[in-house]
Amino acid sequence: MTTVLAHPNIALSKYWGKRPGEGNVPAVPSLSVTLSGVSTTTHVELRDDLREDRFVLDGEAQAGEPLARVVRLLDRVRAARGHTKFASVESRNDFPTASGLASSASGFAALALAAVRAFDLDWPAERVADLARQSSASAARSLFGGFVELEGENARPVAPAEHLPMKVLVCVTTEQKKAVSSTDGMKRSAESSPYFEAWVAKAPEMHARVKRALLARDFEALGAAAEASALAMHATAMAAGLVYFNGVTIEATRSVRALRDKGTPAFFTIDAGPHVKVLVRPEDAALAATWMRAVPGVLRVIEAGIGEGARVTS
Ligand code: PMV
Repeated sequence: MTTVLAHPNIALSKYWGKRPGEGNVPAVPSLSVTLSGVSTTTHVELRDDLREDRFVLDGEAQAGEPLARVVRLLDRVRAARGHTKFASVESRNDFPTASGLASSASGFAALALAAVRAFDLDWPAERVADLARQSSASAARSLFGGFVELEGENARPVAPAEHLPMKVLVCVTTEQKKAVSSTDGMKRSAESSPYFEAWVAKAPEMHARVKRALLARDFEALGAAAEASALAMHATAMAAGLVYFNGVTIEATRSVRALRDKGTPAFFTIDAGPHVKVLVRPEDAALAATWMRAVPGVLRVIEAGIGEGARVTS
């Protein structure tokens, strides 16, 4: 039995859209921060008595597409190892599925590492990340801690957590699951957003702006660049009819701007869902969390720090 712990990550420069063809390769580069304080734990056990793979998520046996995605990853590992044994996979998130944190990122990062180790393969982190990327591109970034870049097929660490300390406040705006998955949203954006080509052309520049600010340890420039990337991604999706925001999303972003106008550097980013993530310096986290909890419709605020990459715990 191999057990792996992995954290979700939040993109500061967003990936949205895939390169044409097979392989699940992002069309644009992205840069994320791996979170601490929230995690997925996954056990993989190879078993002689199984006639097929089994996957239990948060205590519930999975079937259909969720199971099929896990089986596809296991099949890749079996093919690489020349092995035919089936696996029992048990995974648990310590954060709610509707929290707006990408459980697919921490989930597939944990599964990729646990499967590789369970099948006794000694792959470097980059190769494990590539395996995770094929299931969920953002999962490739969760193999590493701190600040992480994903460019084409390659995920790599850019700077450790201490490089630019910050907190991410996850402001939950609904208990409902999102209506359109990011995979479908990207597909629809590519097919019908009049701004998709402009997004793909401009995203590398926006990514470079985020990376430059990070390397210069300029928190305010990083926050502003992250907001710009998120808004450009959403404008692209919106023009294809995909509005991921709800009313509280808008109110929460207005509150972040109001906090900033009062002198506290706080910036927002939003993924393919209605929740708002607020980036603040650690010393401003308590004040900003109280501020965001007061926004009507914000159900709770999860305070996350910067975390480590996926790791084997037993
Ligand atoms: O990991 P995927 O393929 O489900 O896509 C994630 C997309 C965003 O979270 C919206 C952006 C990102 O870069 O993480």
